[in-house]
Amino acid sequence: RQQIVKLTTGCAGFDAILGGGIETGMLTEVFGEFRSGKTQVCHTLAVTSQLPVEQGGAEGRVAWIDSEGTFRPERITKIAERFGLDAEQVLENIAHARAYNVEHQTELLVQAASMMVEARFALLIVDSVTALYRSEYQGRGQLADRQGHLCQFLRKLQRMADEFGIAVVYTNQVVATVDPMAVFRGGEDKKPIGGHIMAHASQTRLYLKKGKGQNRVAKIYDSPSMPDNIDAKFAITENGVSD
Ligand code: GTP
Ligand code: MG
Repeated sequence: RQQIVKLTTGCAGFDAILGGGIETGMLTEVFGEFRSGKTQVCHTLAVTSQLPVEQGGAEGRVAWIDSEGTFRPERITKIAERFGLDAEQVLENIAHARAYNVEHQTELLVQAASMMVEARFALLIVDSVTALYRSEYQGRGQLADRQGHLCQFLRKLQRMADEFGIAVVYTNQVVATVDPMAVFRGGEDKKPIGGHIMAHASQTRLYLKKGKGQNRVAKIYDSPSMPDNIDAKFAITENGVSD
């Protein structure tokens, strides 16, 4: 069994609510509204995962499956400079691939796994894991098929986390909850998509929320190991996630 390493998010308070950081060998879901910072969190982790362990990294490469075309090499460069890493080397260590449909996204996972046999990887990002499912399985009648395929995909992610000891981070969108009164009972008026299949797939679910300007809030959602309703403020800057 591989040793668990905790990857820094780039923000001390954010790391604290995670019990130190994003764990290797585990699945972490990051969900939230558009512009809540999901993709920026991914960019930051794609750099910090390459840091030495003493600095909050896992000294490994990164595979990035991108279904929305939002990977930005220039953002990686900035974040690498912030952490004192050679930007060119950091970019070289990120295997980025654009996914165009659900089958392709699944195929890219198989390719990523074969790369992981050859070299030491620390992190797999899927941003977003659900977007292509939403566009390909639209009708109510397709819901069961969508959930079935998504479940298989998420199981493959777990197998890779177990086998290669990598951290798996995937993003997800939110929809308005059907119950309009939820917010008055202290609940949320938005929920992650993917139902119970998504809910049970990961070890940690993170809800990101927008604040003013660069400000964001991260909240642990439904965690068995961490107390509920603890949140952390963080900021999104051109150098990635920070205090
Ligand atoms: P969707 O993928 O659309 O659902 O959103 P997301 O949650 O992935 O949001 P993303 O991580 O793309 O965050 C976008 C936010 O990051 C925007 O509000 C931008 O203002 C902010 N952002 C991106 N680049 C920079 C930057 O260089 N400087 C600053 N200050 N903010 C940035
Ligand atoms: Mg995004």
